[in-house]
Amino acid sequence: MPSRYEDALNRIADKFRVTAEKAAKEGIIPYKSAEGKWIASPYDGNSWWTGGFWPGLMWQLWTLTGDGFFRDEARRVGQMLTDEFRTFQKLNHDVGFMYLLSAGADAKLTGNEQARTDTLHAASLLMGRFNPAGFIRAWNEPERTGYAIIDCMMNLALLYRASRETGDPRFRNTARIHADTTLREFLREDGSVSHIVELDPATGARVREHPGQGYAPGSQWSRGQAWGLYGFALAYRHLGEQRYLEAALRIADNFVKHVRPDGLTDCDFCQPPEEERIDNLAGAIAACGLQELSQLTGDARWTKQAERLTDGLLEHCADWGEARCGILTHCTASYHDDGAGRHTNILYGDYFLAEALMRFCGKDAELWN
Ligand code: GLY
Repeated sequence: MPSRYEDALNRIADKFRVTAEKAAKEGIIPYKSAEGKWIASPYDGNSWWTGGFWPGLMWQLWTLTGDGFFRDEARRVGQMLTDEFRTFQKLNHDVGFMYLLSAGADAKLTGNEQARTDTLHAASLLMGRFNPAGFIRAWNEPERTGYAIIDCMMNLALLYRASRETGDPRFRNTARIHADTTLREFLREDGSVSHIVELDPATGARVREHPGQGYAPGSQWSRGQAWGLYGFALAYRHLGEQRYLEAALRIADNFVKHVRPDGLTDCDFCQPPEEERIDNLAGAIAACGLQELSQLTGDARWTKQAERLTDGLLEHCADWGEARCGILTHCTASYHDDGAGRHTNILYGDYFLAEALMRFCGKDAELWN
């Protein structure tokens, strides 16, 4: 493991040891940083889907350093997230991201019983979104009853955990049905994946694809490719079906072909070549998914590709200065809508950069397992 990764990890811990105090003082869940400040989510208050990445990062840094500050900060936000169980209306399929990395991490790393209960509560909410026509419903708007999205492959990790914890196969069986629908409806011939597929909520039949956060219908939103890569790799780890590994390998092959020469990732692999629109969230997520794939296959080629992405991020887009609270720059929430941030620091980029480095250093807290 190159020592540059160990160094980068230590720098992340040092920087967050200082800047996380600001978030704690303000009592917010950071979504992004700008002008020396942490900024809370632009939508849906504390139910916004990214809330789990702050505690997830704190748990990774606690695993690295043993510094109780990080554990306490993770729990501060973990409590804010479990308070959202009572509001309920804004929670959606992203309870996987939100609670696996907060309560799920606490239960896994410290044996906290209440956190285990909260994790199972969240898994039951995700199960409640399952439509027996064959998919987990993504969002809550009445006109979106049939929407399924590629990102959900990551949320399935909450269901794998719940089956393991309870010994009840319901959760993993549901995950398998959703993964098979995703395989059938999202994976394209060229190894790319759609972002949103609308299904008939009565029958499960395909209605149409929507472009979602990507450039255009039929294009390749890079973060969606990264979610698919990592999500199918995890499906193979937990469900053991060869078809999920094959899907992850096809998506990975397509992904690495599109990485820019500087190791960074465009927001959409089909965007106009003259458009400079980078999304480093995609690169950071893929750097983790590729390492997962390398572990699963024993093929070091994927580790090399993960290094290429991580080196690109560290070399060009890591801001270690004090003027910015977070680290990874050039994160872009959505191709056409800059409301949630364009070419800026978005906190879950820092989470996945830290996870990628923890993996390289053999210290990963394994929060998705
Ligand atoms: N899961 C939503 C996104 O990646 O923006």
